Amino acid sequence: MIVSVKKAASLIRSGDVVGIPTETVYGLAADAENAMAIRKTFELKGRPADNPLIVHLHSPADISKFSDFKTDDVSLLTEKFWPGPLTLILPKKNSVLDSITSGLDTVALRSPAHDDTLALLKQCGPVTAPSANRSGRPSPTRPQHVLDDFGDDFPVIDGGECEIGIESTVLDLTSEEPAILRPGKISAEELSEVLSKKVAPEPMQENQAHKSPGTRYTHYKPSAKVMWLPGRMNSPAENDALYILHSGNSAHSAPNVIDFNGDYNSLARALYDLYRTADRKGWTKIYIQPLPPVSIHPILPALKNRIERSAGNH
Ligand code: TXA
Ligand code: MG
Repeated sequence: MIVSVKKAASLIRSGDVVGIPTETVYGLAADAENAMAIRKTFELKGRPADNPLIVHLHSPADISKFSDFKTDDVSLLTEKFWPGPLTLILPKKNSVLDSITSGLDTVALRSPAHDDTLALLKQCGPVTAPSANRSGRPSPTRPQHVLDDFGDDFPVIDGGECEIGIESTVLDLTSEEPAILRPGKISAEELSEVLSKKVAPEPMQENQAHKSPGTRYTHYKPSAKVMWLPGRMNSPAENDALYILHSGNSAHSAPNVIDFNGDYNSLARALYDLYRTADRKGWTKIYIQPLPPVSIHPILPALKNRIERSAGNH
């Protein structure tokens, strides 16, 4: 059920959970001060309780409700990238609910760049918002995806298609050197330039599992099996497979072959929708053309990360 921003704010204030648009993916918003509403989010998603949530803020001024951490790095990053697809991990205040942080001593904060959701946050205050998919499924990038996962009666604000299409960059500012826990649209190079210091691009596997609990779990998966396209594309294309290409020299024109012709931002924007489309059409395989070296385009580390995770053990 599509609801207005005003209706969504009143639902959130009364303890309900609502689908909200952001520039990355749709989120499942609950009042960040209401432990019952937050618990409802975990139940709805089927999310493990040890996977903490991101708190969404209207502006940097709201950081002080959740963290006393005030450093030049925080100011530089929020001035440059907020509202935007950057989540900061900061030491948490004692008052922050344990259900948000899953008992960690840090809290994840971001201000999303979407007019509807910024208006919502102004009306109802900070909300927790994990991606609005059932746990393990691809994140939703359109309101219909949220309804597909939670039913037609579920309240969601229609903010159109998400501009970026993959989740925010998660940056840990509590370690000695700022470290990316989840790559996103904002790259290590961009962050490093703004901070004038090194930013660790992606942590080692075991470190990652320890620091960012969410990364332990299966993610972003359609029912179709996601695979890197081995070698050149078979001719003609298999009928029950979706082919996601980007080299721009595909000679095939079929409904199940799509070539992004070097436009990696568009590929990122469409990726989860294509995953969901493949499932709806009953296609059982998704072949993705191997990506070029990640240094070629700032979104490639994030794109590679999501595709590899969705191609993980089935
Ligand atoms: O773009 C996004 O970030 C979207 C939109 C809705 O804002 N949200 C999103 O939330 O992707 P979710 O819950 O699907 O992913 C949050 C990630 C998880 O990997 C989680 O483990 C990590 O952030 N996280 C949350 N709090 C953390 C903390 N205190 N320390 C380390 N990682 C944390
Ligand atoms: Mg998620």
